[in-house]
Amino acid sequence: MELSREEEQILKGEQGWVKARALKLLITLGELNQASKLVPIQRSQVAGVSYKTAGDATLELIQNLAQENVSAQGIATQNPAGMDLTRWQEMGIQPDFASKQLQICNAYQQLGIKSTCTCTPYLSGNCPLRNETVGFSESSAVAYVNSVIGARTNRHGGLDALSAALIGKVPLMGYLLDENRQGTIQIDVKATLTNNADYAALGYHVGKLLSHQEVPIYNGLHSATKDQLKILGAASAASGSVALYHVLGVTPEALDWHKKPSTQKRLEHHEINDGTLHSIFEELSSPTKIDLIAIGCPHASLTEIRQIVTMLKGRKVKSDLDFWVFTSPQIYTQAEKQGYSAIIRGAGADIYQHTCMVVMPIEDLGFQSVAVNSAKAAFYIPRMTRGKCQASLRPLNSLKTFLK
Ligand code: F3S
Repeated sequence: MELSREEEQILKGEQGWVKARALKLLITLGELNQASKLVPIQRSQVAGVSYKTAGDATLELIQNLAQENVSAQGIATQNPAGMDLTRWQEMGIQPDFASKQLQICNAYQQLGIKSTCTCTPYLSGNCPLRNETVGFSESSAVAYVNSVIGARTNRHGGLDALSAALIGKVPLMGYLLDENRQGTIQIDVKATLTNNADYAALGYHVGKLLSHQEVPIYNGLHSATKDQLKILGAASAASGSVALYHVLGVTPEALDWHKKPSTQKRLEHHEINDGTLHSIFEELSSPTKIDLIAIGCPHASLTEIRQIVTMLKGRKVKSDLDFWVFTSPQIYTQAEKQGYSAIIRGAGADIYQHTCMVVMPIEDLGFQSVAVNSAKAAFYIPRMTRGKCQASLRPLNSLKTFLK
């Protein structure tokens, strides 16, 4: 790989061992993927924040790095933590877990990576421009910024993204290149999609269907909202490895796709009907009694919170279950200001920031069966709890049966 003079100096350790190792990692990643050089970034999103998933090894590593007087370049933000950083006691989190979690977030903060603790950084002050190259981890955010915004990132792991943040560069490879951003398969959606959970089921099915590095082009989603695309992308990134998709006539790189018939001819088509979605809802369901409703995977937008408020207004959550909404600190503050949080809590539900139903230790809080409207959450909850907690994919409206 071609290196600049400054990169060679960093590699020799002239700016300290942390940057030398971070750069070495990026070069190795680039060489494995035939990158010709590194390119600058001004934004990164770093995963590996929740103590539940990161553990003591990550805590020790980040604390060691934080002692070395290095700092992230540009805007760098953290993925969700394993708890609400301020209201963790109300969630029932144990003090030992909380202490370790706060240490992880503080160490990242010392490295210049802001404790935004959200998987929707693009709604919370770290939103790239179209065609901007960034270094994001968090598969749902990668899918969103690549597809809905038209920015460019690869699907980085936690250490790649941390290295990219510290160096301010990423290898020029994969989805940064025009040739890897073309659609490879057309998904003709003939099913009727009426709510976010339907989009989640669709994304989940498509993720399972496609092999590595395929780029689906959806046809028939002309009325999809940004929240629906957010939940669709999260699902296909969870069940498969979809890091980029296009929606004909909707997403920036597919607005004029109909003007490219030669490309269209070469693509394989796959049809989705109501039966396909029905089978996904059956697959992502559990017969066990629901003891938690958890909404906000990816973290809820203000529009989604408004929908929840409309549903809860004047009602009460039945006493045999909890109803939690998860969002970013920025949206949480807006929800507080606009009185939405008060309505949610008045109905016996709650709203939390910084964390989510997947990366918090949900199984240690006594929950055994969770209703979600996100296929990503339905997919990961049983896996992340080693089967101690089950999950069911349900449309938000269907959850009214848990209200009185
Ligand atoms: Fe975000 Fe947690 Fe879902 S990190 S995408 S809310 S699994």
